[in-house]
Amino acid sequence: MSDQNACVLGMQWGDEGKGKIIDLLSGDFDVVVRAQGGSNAGHTVVVGDEKFVLHLVPSGILRKGVACVIGNGVVVDPDQLLSELEELRGRGVDAAGRLLVSDRAQVVMPYHKALDAAKESALGDNKIGTTLRGIGPTYADKAARTGIRLCELIDPSVCRTMLQQNIPFVNKVLQDVYGADPVDPAETIDWAVHRGETLRPMTGDTVEFLHERTRSGKRILFEGAQGSLLDVDFGTYPFNTSSNSSVGGMVTGSGLPPREIGRVIGVLKTYTTRVGAGPFPTELDDETGLLLRERGGEFGATTGRPRRCGWFDVVAARFSAKINGVDELALTKLDVLAGMDPIKICVAYEINGRRTEAFPARAAALAAARPVYEEMPGWRGETAPGGRLCPEAAAYVDKLCEVTGAPARIISVGRKRSETIIA
Ligand code: IMP
Repeated sequence: MSDQNACVLGMQWGDEGKGKIIDLLSGDFDVVVRAQGGSNAGHTVVVGDEKFVLHLVPSGILRKGVACVIGNGVVVDPDQLLSELEELRGRGVDAAGRLLVSDRAQVVMPYHKALDAAKESALGDNKIGTTLRGIGPTYADKAARTGIRLCELIDPSVCRTMLQQNIPFVNKVLQDVYGADPVDPAETIDWAVHRGETLRPMTGDTVEFLHERTRSGKRILFEGAQGSLLDVDFGTYPFNTSSNSSVGGMVTGSGLPPREIGRVIGVLKTYTTRVGAGPFPTELDDETGLLLRERGGEFGATTGRPRRCGWFDVVAARFSAKINGVDELALTKLDVLAGMDPIKICVAYEINGRRTEAFPARAAALAAARPVYEEMPGWRGETAPGGRLCPEAAAYVDKLCEVTGAPARIISVGRKRSETIIA
C-alpha cells in the first residue's frame, strides 16, 4: 500500500464536510483527483474570509502548485465546469495548466438533465430527490454504452455522428414516455461541438498522467464526492446516486490500482444529515432537528435545499467503515453540538420488533427501523477552548472512534482552516 497517498471519503449521506478536510490536507499532496460523481457534489471551502463552493473542480485547486485531475469515473457537465473555472479566475484562482480532465470521462448532455427532471417529475411521490444535474441518466448511458466521452466530444465529426444517433431516441423517450419537451438536435450538436473546442486544451490521458506522477514519487490525494450511503451498490437503493462513492470508485474512476489509494480517511459529521428522499432512521422532526440545521448551516451547497438532520448513527457509520476499510477518521462540525445536552447516538435499530446492528439492504427495512439510542453528556461552553477539546466533547469523540474502530486524526470545530484540531 502506498504510504504517501490518501483518499478522503464521506461515510454518511454526503455533506460531511469533505471540502474542508481536502483543503486542509491538499497542502501535503502534489495531485488531487476526483474519480466519481459530477456537479451533484458541492464542496464548500473557506479560505481566510472567502467561501468557495466547488462542484466539479477538485478542492485542491485552491492550493497553489497542486495539480488537479478530473478522472474517467466523473461525469462532466461542460457548462458547469467552464462557469466554475470562470468564477475561480474572477476570484484570483487560475486553473490554467493545473487541471487535466480525463478523455474517458462521460459528458453530461443537456438531454441528460431534461431526462433527470422528466423522470423525477414522473415518479411523483416516489421521487429520489436528485440534484437534477443529469447524473443518473449520464451514468445510465455509460452503462448502456451510448454515452459520449470527452475524447468523442472534442472530435466534432465523431460527436456529431453519435448525437445524430442518440437524439432521436432520447426525444422519443422525453416525448412519448414522459410527455416532456424534446431537445433541439441542431442546437444540441452545435452546443456540444463548441464545448468540445473549449475543453480540448484541458482534456487528456489522466491515466498516463497519474501513473507518471506516481512513478516520480508525487503524492496523490483522492477526493471522494457524495457519501458511502449514497453509493450505487451500498447505498440506500434506490435512494442514492449513480456512482460508486465508496472506495472502489476511487480505483475504477482514476485508473490507479488499489495499492495506490493509500490511507483511507473517512469523513464523519458528528451528527447525521441527508438531502433528498430516502430512509433516515435518526431523523429529527423536532426542535433539535431544526437547531442542528440552523446551527450547522445545513442547506445543500448545490441545490440550496434544507438538509434533513438527526443524531449520529453508529450502525450506518460502522457499515461505511467496513466497506471502505477506513484507516482514520476526520470528524466534522463538532462545535454544532455545543449546548445540546444530552447528545444521543443510535447504537442499533429495531426493525419489526427485532434488534439489529446490521445495515439493511432494503430501503423499506431501513424506513421501518426505530433507532435504539444511548445518551452522552453534552457541553455548554466552547467546544475546544484554547484549541483543546472540553472533557465532554473529548468523551464524545472517543465514543465515535470506539464504535467505528478507527482513530480520529482531524477534528473540525468550525468552518475555517484554523478551527481544526489535528490529533
Ligand atoms: P443525484 O446524484 O443528483 O442523482 O441524486 C441522488 C441522491 O443523492 C439525491 O438524494 C441527492 O440529494 C443525493 N446527492 C447527490 N449528490 C450529493 C451530494 O454531493 N451531497 C449530498 N447528497 C447528494
